Amino acid sequence: MSQTIEAGATARARAHSNIALVKYWGKNDAVLNTPAVGSISITLDALYTDTRVTFRSGLTSDELQLNGCRENADTVTRVLDLVRNASATTLFAAVESANNFPTGAGLASSASGFAALALAATAAAGLTLTQRELSILARHGSGSAARSIFGGFAKMHAGTAADGSDSYAEQLLAGGDWPLTIVIAITEHGAKSINSTVGMGSSAASSPFYPAWLATAPGDLTDLAAAIAARDFERLGELAEYNCLKLHALMLTTRPALIYWNAATVATMHAVRDLRASGVPAYFTIDAGPQVKVLCLPADSAKVHAALLNVSGVLEVRHSALGPDAYRLD
Ligand code: PMV
Repeated sequence: MSQTIEAGATARARAHSNIALVKYWGKNDAVLNTPAVGSISITLDALYTDTRVTFRSGLTSDELQLNGCRENADTVTRVLDLVRNASATTLFAAVESANNFPTGAGLASSASGFAALALAATAAAGLTLTQRELSILARHGSGSAARSIFGGFAKMHAGTAADGSDSYAEQLLAGGDWPLTIVIAITEHGAKSINSTVGMGSSAASSPFYPAWLATAPGDLTDLAAAIAARDFERLGELAEYNCLKLHALMLTTRPALIYWNAATVATMHAVRDLRASGVPAYFTIDAGPQVKVLCLPADSAKVHAALLNVSGVLEVRHSALGPDAYRLD
C-alpha cells in the first residue's frame, strides 16, 4: 500500500558490513543489479554504517554526505527512486552517512551503506518492509548489501525471476549460534583502484575462467552451507580460502588484469598458512581490495592478531565478532 511522505520525514538506521566466504562476482542483470552467482557471508559486528535519510521540500535532487563530505548520489537515487515509487512522493532526500571504518578500501562499505540506506529510507517514508523486501531494495544499491540486512551467516540467492523478486538474502544462522572471530589485516588505507561493478563486468567479458566460475559456484554454496549447518570450522575455512583464491584467479585473468593484492596482502596469506602449519586453525579471505580477513575461533584470536601484526607491511589489525541484523537507531 502506498503512503505519502511528509516533508521533513526522517529516520536513522545502522547496518553492519559483511564479508563473503563464497563470493559474488558477475551480474545477471545490470539494471536490477542481480548477481550471476549466489553467495554466503558473515556480518561483522565491529564495522558498520549509520545513515540518516530526510525527505525535504526544496531539494532538486537527492544529496549525499558521506563521512561529512558531499559525494555523487546517483546510486543512492536508484534506491530512493524505488522508495518514492512505493510512497507516491516526488520529494528528494538528504542522506547523511558515516562509516566507522575506511571507506572503499575492500572492507565492504557499500554493503553496510546500502543496507542502512534501505532501512532508513523506508522507515522515513513510513513503509514497513519485511527483511526479504529490504534485502531486495538494498541489492539495487550494491549486490553485497542484500546480505547486510541480516546478522550472523547470510545466504544470497542469485534468483531467476525476470523482475529480480527471487534475488535476495536470508539468514542461515544468527551470530550467537556459532561465534567466530574475524581478524583483519589492513595493508593500505587508500580507496581501491577499480570498483567492483566495473571489475566484474570486465571479468565476465574477458576472462577465460568466467564460465568455470559460474559453473562451480553452486557446488561451493552447497558445501559451505553444509559446513555451517555442521559447525565444521576447518571445512568452512578451507572452502572460504579456496573460493577466495578462485575469485582472484578470475580477477588475475581479466584483461586488463585486476590485481587487488599488494606485497603485504601476499605476505599475510603466507603468515596464515604458517599459522595453520603450527596448529592454529586460521583461514584467509580477500575481496576487491588489499585487506586480508582471517577467520579463526575466538580462543585463537590473540595468536592470530600477534602473527598478523608481525607481517611486514601490515599497518593495522582489527578484530570483529559476528554482527546483528540491520536496525533502526531512532
Ligand atoms: O556488492 P559489490 O558491488 O560491492 O561487490 C562485492 C564483491 C565482493 O566483495 C568481491 C564479493 C562479495 O560477494 O561481497
